[in-house]
Amino acid sequence: MKKHIKNNVHWVGKIDWELDSFHGADYSVNNGSSQNAYLIQEEKTVLIDTVWVPHSTEFIDNLESEIDLETIDFIVCNHGEVDHSGALPALMEKIPGTPIYCTAAAVKSLTGQYHQPDWNFQVVKTGDSVDVGNGKKLVFVEMKMLHWPDSMATYLTEDHILFSNDAFGQHYAVGELFNDKADPCLLMEEAMKYYANILNPFSSFVTKKIEEVVAMNIPIDIIATSHGVIWREDPMQIINKYVQWADAYQEDQITIVYDTMWEGTTKLAHAIAQGIAEASPETRVKVFNISKTDKNDIMTEVFKSKAIALGSPTVGQNILSSVGGWLTFLEELKFKNKKAAVFGCYGWSGESPKILREKLEKAGFAVLDEEVKCLWNPQEEQYEKARALGKALANA
Ligand code: FEO
Repeated sequence: MKKHIKNNVHWVGKIDWELDSFHGADYSVNNGSSQNAYLIQEEKTVLIDTVWVPHSTEFIDNLESEIDLETIDFIVCNHGEVDHSGALPALMEKIPGTPIYCTAAAVKSLTGQYHQPDWNFQVVKTGDSVDVGNGKKLVFVEMKMLHWPDSMATYLTEDHILFSNDAFGQHYAVGELFNDKADPCLLMEEAMKYYANILNPFSSFVTKKIEEVVAMNIPIDIIATSHGVIWREDPMQIINKYVQWADAYQEDQITIVYDTMWEGTTKLAHAIAQGIAEASPETRVKVFNISKTDKNDIMTEVFKSKAIALGSPTVGQNILSSVGGWLTFLEELKFKNKKAAVFGCYGWSGESPKILREKLEKAGFAVLDEEVKCLWNPQEEQYEKARALGKALANA
């Protein structure tokens, strides 16, 4: 069933209340999500994006209950990733030859995924436009690396709607669609989680693209994303957030992240937290065991932090695999302007602080020279060192 957005624009996507992960298992989804697609019915009928493969039959059935598919003049594919293009193969079987407007990179992506080189691709670049009738145009804006090389946004003149695709989205199901209908705290939490865990590596592109769009001086009444809410109440609020988040964002927070075998490293983690609190009572301190807390939630806390402390015991002359996997993800996210400290217990060889240091430096963190490397279980001497490490981190 279509839902009204503005004038002759309707939402025709999928609210996915049951989704529990995204990008395989790399992103936890705790409050549902959506794949937003849109139908424009001016003199021309235009479909903007589709939905993920498992929902393609439902999507096409719904669309057929609203319109004769043959009346679709063209499709805009803002991004080739399967959560937006998944219904294209089934749709194109019904309306072969229908033009698909997309970037040159999206032709590669769509052809590579669906092996249909004969689809009627119409390649567009920034500034290209197409008339949809009634005095309105769709203007295309390439959004390269936000978050794939093929991404683009599409702007509907007169109605002033920016179909932004992944940018400004969240994995958050809101049946009423609009940001003013969503739980405001949860909305911004999910928007930040999405930025920290998906878009942060591309922050330099975010800044440049926002400057470019602002320079175009186009009025934006609605930002119609491809995931989560449609921003109609103060849509600039999420653009302003992105400007802040893209600029090496941090709050007065230090996050301690660790895993442990027999609780020695846990004790050090809490002693470091105590040292931070003593040195800087205003600083928010959070402590997470990697194996017990959602990894994406921890990444969001790291995104907010000015510094982290990372701990692992030594095992097999290495670090725990939970910490190693987390560090791989941390490196991928390319956080900037953050400090770090390392700590860990050991029984025999004691390599973990050195390994943690190397991996954190590779991930772009400035790691303090001070560290806590504790033989067997900590006692007062090591607790004092851990508190001192917390103080050093707070004062760094
Ligand atoms: Fe929502 Fe990049 O896919």
